[in-house]
Amino acid sequence: MIAAIGAVAANGVLGLDNWLPWDIPEELAWFEKQVAGAALVIGRLTYESMDAVPPDSFIVSRQADLALRPGCHRVSSVEEGLRRALATGKPVFVIGGASIYAAAWPYCRYFYLTRIERDFAGDTRFPEEIPLASWQLRSERVEHYRERKTGIVVACRFLQYEQASPRLPNAG
Ligand SMILES: NC(=O)c1ccc[n+]([C@@H]2O[C@H](COP(=O)([O-])OP(=O)(O)OC[C@H]3O[C@@H](n4cnc5c(N)ncnc54)[C@H](OP(=O)(O)O)[C@@H]3O)[C@@H](O)[C@H]2O)c1
Repeated sequence: MIAAIGAVAANGVLGLDNWLPWDIPEELAWFEKQVAGAALVIGRLTYESMDAVPPDSFIVSRQADLALRPGCHRVSSVEEGLRRALATGKPVFVIGGASIYAAAWPYCRYFYLTRIERDFAGDTRFPEEIPLASWQLRSERVEHYRERKTGIVVACRFLQYEQASPRLPNAG
């Protein structure tokens, strides 16, 4: 099973200064709970922004000599990352960033997307080409949390989309 997970603001933004544009601990806790025990496929910039990365993390980078923390493996393409993550036998989660979602979505059965119903300043956008509107919406739940930087309560809409026939990452 391959799934992607992420969060996006109402104006399509998902990143700022190589971190999240918002500070919503409850949303982050939900993300951590979903991916616990999974093998992760992560873009190199997102990986570098993370304080802790679990074992069986596959970091997508074109840099052959990239030095990584223990338990992390460099892969040279998203497809290689997905194949190697699947080979662990664990559930596989693609956790971003934008460039990795854009390449990985055809292989994902599920996309767990939190829509944060407010605009935020940002420098990285959720890829518009991901056709979630044509995926089946499996579940939807709305919670209200206080965003720590603004002090404003925001609605977080937790959505689970399912794609009927995801592609298999090719061998090779
Ligand atoms: N809101 C959310 O849910 C969420 C989730 C994750 C990340 N983010 C945010 O998103 C931002 C980062 O996203 P991003 O798109 O700029 O960076 P990214 O996807 O995290 O990493 C980009 C890097 O991945 C490697 N890469 C990407 N595509 C590749 C390919 N096809 N083949 C080989 N390597 C490839 C390259 O590494 P090299 O340069 O080493 O070759 C590239 O520089 C940050 O602000 C982060 O906090 C948000």
